[in-house]
Amino acid sequence: MPVTVIDHPLIQHKLSLLRDQDTNVRDFRALCTEISMLMAFEAMRDLPLDEAVVKTPVAPAAVKRLAGKKLALVGILRAGLVMVDGILSLVPSARVGHIGLYRDPKTLEPVEYYKKLPSDIAERDAFLLDPMLATGGSAEAAITILEELGARNIRLLCIIGAPEGIALVERTHPTVEIILAARDERLNDKGYIVPGLGDAGDRIYGTR
Ligand code: PRP
Ligand code: URA
Repeated sequence: MPVTVIDHPLIQHKLSLLRDQDTNVRDFRALCTEISMLMAFEAMRDLPLDEAVVKTPVAPAAVKRLAGKKLALVGILRAGLVMVDGILSLVPSARVGHIGLYRDPKTLEPVEYYKKLPSDIAERDAFLLDPMLATGGSAEAAITILEELGARNIRLLCIIGAPEGIALVERTHPTVEIILAARDERLNDKGYIVPGLGDAGDRIYGTR
């Protein structure tokens, strides 16, 4: 699957603010939500439509409406929650799943601590949401969880991706489409994306 990097000017501008170390917690959270909503345009470009007719105050209008395809938004805790918030406001009938993972600070391996997914996840198009794709360990583990539950049509939306994480997901889950707002240069020796934006969870929630 090709990786899509959405370089729309609105996203690039918001990303410039998001990366800035002087952006405060409130603005950082809002920017993550806004960028996620803009990314949803690309991620949901092929949702099927039904045709219908509605009456405007002037005349009947032939319209197209979402065909009611079943969607699932799956956020990787913690940072993925803000992406869920943004995209859920666009598709409020989507079901929401949560996968709790944190990176062990020494090994950088993902540790699972929570999992709650729609029971019919196998029948839904799943949008897996996490702002950061660094080593790719968290995304890889989350995709494996979804696939073990039968999910087949999975798209991974991350605001920033590093080459290492992209390569891991491509290698281990070649059918998963990866959609990013930016592809950065590399990881540093602590597993942070360079230049990145720092620790997404800490910046969203003001922890450290
Ligand atoms: C961050 C981020 C991803 C993960 C990416 O979460 O939100 O889930 O790191 O890194 P990886 O690609 O190397 O796995 P973190 O583990 O810091 O947990 P948190 O959201 O609870 O802060
Ligand atoms: N997780 C983050 O939050 N930031 C990084 O740069 C890498 C992993």
